[in-house]
Amino acid sequence: MHKPRVPSLLLLAGILLILDSARVDAAATAQRQPDSRIVNGREATEGEFPYQLSLRRQTVHICGASILSGNWAITAAHCIDGHENQPREFTLRQGSVQRSTGGTVQPLKSIHKHPAYDRADMNFDVALLRTADGALNYPLGKVAPIRLPAVGAAIADSLPAVVSGWGHMSTTNPVLSSVLKSTTVLTVNQQKCHNDLRNHGGVTEAMFCAAARNTDACQGDSGGPISSQGTLIGIVSWGVGCADPYYPGVYTRLAHPTIRRWIRLLTKL
Ligand code: ARG
Repeated sequence: MHKPRVPSLLLLAGILLILDSARVDAAATAQRQPDSRIVNGREATEGEFPYQLSLRRQTVHICGASILSGNWAITAAHCIDGHENQPREFTLRQGSVQRSTGGTVQPLKSIHKHPAYDRADMNFDVALLRTADGALNYPLGKVAPIRLPAVGAAIADSLPAVVSGWGHMSTTNPVLSSVLKSTTVLTVNQQKCHNDLRNHGGVTEAMFCAAARNTDACQGDSGGPISSQGTLIGIVSWGVGCADPYYPGVYTRLAHPTIRRWIRLLTKL
């Protein structure tokens, strides 16, 4: 299927932001919503998400990521796009629910963006981050890798899945959370999702959607994990606003053969 290309992601983001704030403002008096982070959900307890990482650029949190092994982490390609040859600009904080304190901070040795990543439509939005051997093990007992899905594993409709991150509280209140938050969303039928997002280019087979009432991932959660039954099924990728009842959140589908085989090729995982 031919997908309409967006001229520039930045331009698109700008337009969405304007459209979004206009719509939210209009609705604000009618249905005011409580402020909290990740867009509702709840705060994580220490050790609840031992695979969760904060990806930092020049010490500032920019995205989430997940631990795959002692020296590999996974994030979204859009988090590192344009900087894949500068691993030293980035670090990973592990073993802390606090965004900016605790745990340990590890440098990157290399960044591997998926070769098919397309910034125009966000297809194949995945990147692998390599650290020194054994670096993603500290503090001992506080961190752990998360399992990857099998090649081609299907995702059932309406499957509950947990997404976590330090991202924004809402589209209108762009503030990162200082404590890790999580929420449960339900996977959306692929055809329905494609239809819901048809005015925004739809979704590809390397994406899936998840949504729930009044809760969602948001800006700053990108690159972070969405898991089901202990398996990392996806990565926070994009959305139209956050927790908008008309637009589900979009995730990178890690079981997609082009993605899963690429991960195996690089990491042997
Ligand atoms: N692209 C965003 C980021 O960079 C993630 C957006 C997720 N949005 C959503 N509504 N689920 O952090």
